Amino acid sequence: MMNRIIAVIAFTLISFGTLTAKEGMWLPQLLKSLNESEMKSMGLKLSAEDIYSVNNSSLKDAVISFGGFCTGEMISDQGLILTNHHCGYGRIQSHSSVENDYLTNGYWANNHSEEFKNPGLTATFIIRIEDVTDEILNSISADLTKEEREKAIKKAIDSTAKLATEGTHYDAVIKPFYYGNEYYMFITETFKDVRLVGAPPSSIGKFGGDTDNWMWPRHTGDFSLFRIYADKDNKPAEYSEDNVPFKPRHHFPISLNGIKKGDFTMVYGFPGRTQEYLTSYAIQQIKEVINPRRIDIREKALEVMDKHMDASDEVRIKYASKYASIANYWKKWLGENRGLEKANAISMKKEQEDLFVKATAGKPKYDNLMNEFEKRYTAIEDYEQARSYFIEIPYRKVEAIGLASAFRDLVKSEEPTEEQLEKLKKRIETHFKDYDYATDMELAQVLFKKYQTELPEQFVPKSLKSNQSKLDSYVKEMHDESIFTKRKDIEEFIADYSAKDAKKIEKDPIFQLTLAFWDIYDNQIRPEYGRLSDEIDSLSKIYVAALREFVPGRYYPDANSTLRLAYGKVDNYEPRDAVNYEFFTTTEGIIEKYDPGSDDFDLPDNLIQLIENEDYGQYADENGHMPVCFTASNHTTGGNSGSPVINANGELIGLNFDRNWEGTMSDITYDINQCRNISVDVRYVLFIVDKFAGATHLIEEMTLVKNTAEEKKGE
Ligand code: ARG
Ligand code: GLU
Repeated sequence: MMNRIIAVIAFTLISFGTLTAKEGMWLPQLLKSLNESEMKSMGLKLSAEDIYSVNNSSLKDAVISFGGFCTGEMISDQGLILTNHHCGYGRIQSHSSVENDYLTNGYWANNHSEEFKNPGLTATFIIRIEDVTDEILNSISADLTKEEREKAIKKAIDSTAKLATEGTHYDAVIKPFYYGNEYYMFITETFKDVRLVGAPPSSIGKFGGDTDNWMWPRHTGDFSLFRIYADKDNKPAEYSEDNVPFKPRHHFPISLNGIKKGDFTMVYGFPGRTQEYLTSYAIQQIKEVINPRRIDIREKALEVMDKHMDASDEVRIKYASKYASIANYWKKWLGENRGLEKANAISMKKEQEDLFVKATAGKPKYDNLMNEFEKRYTAIEDYEQARSYFIEIPYRKVEAIGLASAFRDLVKSEEPTEEQLEKLKKRIETHFKDYDYATDMELAQVLFKKYQTELPEQFVPKSLKSNQSKLDSYVKEMHDESIFTKRKDIEEFIADYSAKDAKKIEKDPIFQLTLAFWDIYDNQIRPEYGRLSDEIDSLSKIYVAALREFVPGRYYPDANSTLRLAYGKVDNYEPRDAVNYEFFTTTEGIIEKYDPGSDDFDLPDNLIQLIENEDYGQYADENGHMPVCFTASNHTTGGNSGSPVINANGELIGLNFDRNWEGTMSDITYDINQCRNISVDVRYVLFIVDKFAGATHLIEEMTLVKNTAEEKKGE
């Protein structure tokens, strides 16, 4: 695994990009006024009303928030959901065991009765979106203190939401946009009976693994299938055997007509978080301080995990998922920093700030705005850093500290409740299922050293400082002595716990260090960090409002896990001098990457057979090739995984699952030359379902669209 890390670091980027429009994640109800004419000029054959309508069925009725962390879409009139394999991964894993290892072998329900229920998994539709800015902001007078203001906003949000949903089975979510300059309300309908229908083996759904993650060219069949069940009135209901497949208001027809470079595309989904209006000071801090530190911490952690995982199969399995999630953002930040460098993001933002200063000259309100930003960013730097070290190291990487943290409330309570104890017992069980003592100890040794040498002294627990010269043995002693590193000890301890046992925890060395870390976080980091970041938010609110008022441009709100539409074109890109990436991949590339027995590039035999026989059914392109993935210039981010990729006619052509490495800085600044979203071609999805899995009953419930040669010519 180390080789992969080194290969990624060694990769350098030389080239440059210019910044242009077409970026953005747009609010569906504003498409008509802001985007429709441009979208039509780019090739859209539908109207804005076809994409989002309150009164008639529209594309939005086929898009769901999948569990709140991914996107999915309806692909049949029987509630069939298409989403990513990596979005369904946790659920597929939960149904797997050594005897029935669906992660490794895949799973295909032969009929409805074989579809697995997933307690807690939800599918949420957007019923309508309303501008509630006046309702929220009119309730606030200018003379309120910060606390009073927050209270007033919360009150207005609660009452507006209540009024909008009274007497319905809908929920209302109200969120700030443009740093609180506007508020929008999303009326939602949430289904709670969502069952697993099918998933390919990981050797297809996760083909390429962490090696290919964030990379193009890509050959991953990153999809899985679920189904929404409703009560007999087609309404949301808790799981019941009596529930029936949900009839959606719309489902996507699936195009078998393929794609060409330059084709219009849209991605409709729930992007999580972007920060497009940061100032140059913020970007400089992210690029030069925060990202390098986080990257370095994770790199050290991955090295330690690598070593232990390579040495033991048991540890390899225990740490596989943790490794993947640490590696995911480690690799993203590396790409982001390179992209920021290559796009000259800091000087580009500085130019925009100069424009801003010119455009607002003579308006006293903005006179000092940039200086005020600069002051705050200078002041927050140490706290921002300390906060990210706290989150990255004791809070998330040294798991004994994470476990001990969960006991802080218990120690404080005079009379522990049954519920409290049950929760801790569950926590202990999940913790130790994937815990390795030696790995955790070495992580602590390596990472505490960084924590202690790299942060200003005020943020370092005294015991780490005083044991600086013999840190390794100090950490080892602590791990040896503590009950938080030994399953049996802590289980016995909690089994007959009573309040007087709190003393014992208080003496535990890991618990003491945990409290010291939290004390520093609660008293030295959080208050000042919170104060400064609130001030930065207030400045940002003024800045963004003024940009929109005085500086010509098209300003879309940052992603905040609400429904958005991005549009662009099927497109290739040139990552660096003399390298030109094609915009699509084919099954030939799967065979090229095939590495029998390897973690990331092994293949199921019957897939190899199908590819060797070119047995692609109706899913191959005109030239007989089987497409796998493609790139397009839609502006996407985390949360857009599983989003439908839609053509000019509103038909499904792909399933979004990643971005290219060179373009991951699009969360901060988008570059049309470098930023691409990566999708699995829907024809590959169908090929796997039909030819590989033989699940033809699923194909039959879908609506496939295949034009005749005549019709294609007429396009
Ligand atoms: N990079 C994609 C996303 O951000 C996929 C992550 C899952 N895959 C993996 N190999 N870790 O979520
Ligand atoms: N894989 C990401 C997700 O889970 C999408 C990739 C991105 O960040 O654009 O949402």
